[in-house]
Amino acid sequence: MKRCDETQAWGALKGHFEAHGRDFDLREAFERDAGRFAAMSFEAPEVFADLSKNRIDTATWHFLLDMARECGLEAQRDALLRGDIANVTEGRAVLHTALRAPRGQGPFSDEVHSVLDSMLAYADRVRSDSGNSGFTDIVNIGIGGSDLGPAMVVPALDAYRNPAQQLHFVSNVDGHDIAPLLQRLDAKKTLFIVASKTFTTQETMANARAARTWFVQQGGSDVARHFAATTTNVKAAAEFGIHTTFGFWDWVGGRYSLWSAIGLPMAIAIGSADFRALLAGAHAMDRHFAHTPLAKNLPVLLGLLDVWYRNFHGFTSRSVAPYHQGLRRLPAYLQQLEMESNGKQVDQQGRALPFGTSPVVWGEPGTNGQHAYFQMLHQGTDVIPVEFIAVKTPSHGLADQHDKLLANCLAQSQALMLGKSAAAAFTEKAPTAAAGFDPAVLAQHRAFPGNRPSTTFVLDALTPQSLGALIALYEHRVFVSGALWGINSFDQWGVELGKALCNALLPRLGTGDTTGLDSSTAGLLKRLTS
Ligand code: F6P
Repeated sequence: MKRCDETQAWGALKGHFEAHGRDFDLREAFERDAGRFAAMSFEAPEVFADLSKNRIDTATWHFLLDMARECGLEAQRDALLRGDIANVTEGRAVLHTALRAPRGQGPFSDEVHSVLDSMLAYADRVRSDSGNSGFTDIVNIGIGGSDLGPAMVVPALDAYRNPAQQLHFVSNVDGHDIAPLLQRLDAKKTLFIVASKTFTTQETMANARAARTWFVQQGGSDVARHFAATTTNVKAAAEFGIHTTFGFWDWVGGRYSLWSAIGLPMAIAIGSADFRALLAGAHAMDRHFAHTPLAKNLPVLLGLLDVWYRNFHGFTSRSVAPYHQGLRRLPAYLQQLEMESNGKQVDQQGRALPFGTSPVVWGEPGTNGQHAYFQMLHQGTDVIPVEFIAVKTPSHGLADQHDKLLANCLAQSQALMLGKSAAAAFTEKAPTAAAGFDPAVLAQHRAFPGNRPSTTFVLDALTPQSLGALIALYEHRVFVSGALWGINSFDQWGVELGKALCNALLPRLGTGDTTGLDSSTAGLLKRLTS
């Protein structure tokens, strides 16, 4: 397989960028082509995507698609979905798609559906028993992929939750995370789920031990009933005293694991039928990814756009703005998905990459972000593509507020694109102009460059089905850019060094010993321990 920069199309793209890409103007593009929106918006299962406000034209698509073909993207995709070893440095297949394939379809179907059935039966039992003898509070203890997916999905699907139960997520080793929560809980009515693929992660094990100690101190004797585990390491969970365990497999990457037993808190929150709907939504997107021609394949187009922006325009960051409060944890979830997957500096063969990889992914729900960092998106010196997510129908009855929300969403992408010239600003009466301030100078401050790109996704409603499809869309898009860059999107060696150094430093926190440390770390350690 070729890496993107080894293709002929890469050279063509370079020429195209110099001739038409660098100075591409969105406003002119819309003026030239009345059919631009129709030509550059796409339907995928549950997700409509308007890509027309991006700095791209038909020729760009053409060259990018050529590049994808030269890289053997379709063959790479098929190999992934088939279960070939896609995670080469760990010798593992990458088969989160198998977790959402209907029974009898996809690899490992018997194992997958056997765990799914028992996990969902347990989830329904917990969910239906929130009365005197049941659980009112469910605490998921996990971090990274064992936290971010469920912690994102549960609030997103709050409308589907059993209101008699509260779901809590503890991830940080910082005791300020779990300690105040424990103070509010009733041990008799609390279920702890210890979620860890490895069941060795420092933060999770520390929190799990703190929870068990608290539970026993509260007079709890039935650890087996009040603790469940979701892990590939059933033996370690049993040693901890947990016997209600739902397993999964090494071919499920942590950041791709919400579809596995790691989804237990989601299943308790929304129930088995809706958990299955979430899987079905993701599976529909899997089919779209597997079978739609590249030129209409939404994850492929998004991945191509990512390469275009990162490697030709040189944009180093992408902001995500979900205009739905329920999706408030989506940016954090996407940070791990994309940055842990594609934040790599060598290709599959270990060769240093001569181009940039993962952008910084960040964001906040709209409209909150508008009153914080959107200033920089509109008038800052860096161009940051923004991804808006709009939901047509809310799950509340406040129609007036929903109209305001949607108007804000549309207005932001419009403002980013249209901008405002200093001449136009000059003709306006500035509401807060300081007396005597030169109006021409003020107009410069009030001008917007515009031509700032954005994508808008539209969901008809935020349902288990549509959320499943949206998440799978992002997963596949990350795979596409990673495959074009020639990297392994499925390992995460970059987290290891910090873990090892932490283990070496930990005893020194007790002794204050700074022998052999660099002077900064030694100085800080001294300051923190003396
Ligand atoms: O931070 C590294 C990482 O391995 C993530 O990839 C993973 O999601 C997280 O730690 C948690 O790991 P585990 O589920 O094994 O506790």
